[in-house]
Amino acid sequence: MRQIFLSSLIPAALLLTGCVGSSSRTPPIELIPDMKHQMKVKAQTDQARRPVTNTVAIGHLKDDDAYYTGVVGDKYIGLNPEKIDRALLERGQKRFTIYCTPCHDQTGNGRGIVPTRFPSWLPSSLQDPRQKAMVDGEIFNIMTIGRRTMPSYANQITEKDRWAIVAYVRALQRTTSGTLADVPSNLKAELK
Ligand code: HEC
Repeated sequence: MRQIFLSSLIPAALLLTGCVGSSSRTPPIELIPDMKHQMKVKAQTDQARRPVTNTVAIGHLKDDDAYYTGVVGDKYIGLNPEKIDRALLERGQKRFTIYCTPCHDQTGNGRGIVPTRFPSWLPSSLQDPRQKAMVDGEIFNIMTIGRRTMPSYANQITEKDRWAIVAYVRALQRTTSGTLADVPSNLKAELK
């Protein structure tokens, strides 16, 4: 009786230990599979994700050149197409602080942290007469396609945010050319 018990126990034990030639961390019988087998979605390859030629995804038709490039024909558009209000300016200020100040600094003078480390990467000042004289579309276009050593920000900043930045840059430029006439009459008395 004892022998029968042992003779059936040994093959059973061998089966459980799985003494196969190849090494594997998985036991042949997985009592606790630890979520090893589960439904999952595998990342698509580049090939599978490529858009079908001559098609445009819904909501991604960008045929409004003025809005998406700042240029119509061979001319920059003059005015920001977004409605200029406080919300847009505040959005522009936030995006400018994130994306532009590292090089252009908060005043737009061009003495940001990057050029202090890489002097060859010194931006032009946004407060110079030439940059002040630019129309809105040109500033938008510089952000969109870059210019000389100034990189393109089209992939990081959405079109709406780029227009918000244009609005903020204009406000920033006004700060260095304000005159007494710009101060509302009810606030003039407070000037020191
Ligand atoms: C990595 C550094 C860097 C960042 C970040 C950067 N710029 Fe510039 N920018 C430059 C440099 C360098 C130039 C000067 C390019 C030249 O004339 O060679 C420049 C020039 C410009 C000019 C003037 C171009 C001219 O013809 O004088 C504008 C306008 C401008 N940048 C806007 C922006 C705005 C808006 C942002 C934020 C979205 C921004 N830049 C972010 C480096 C930067």
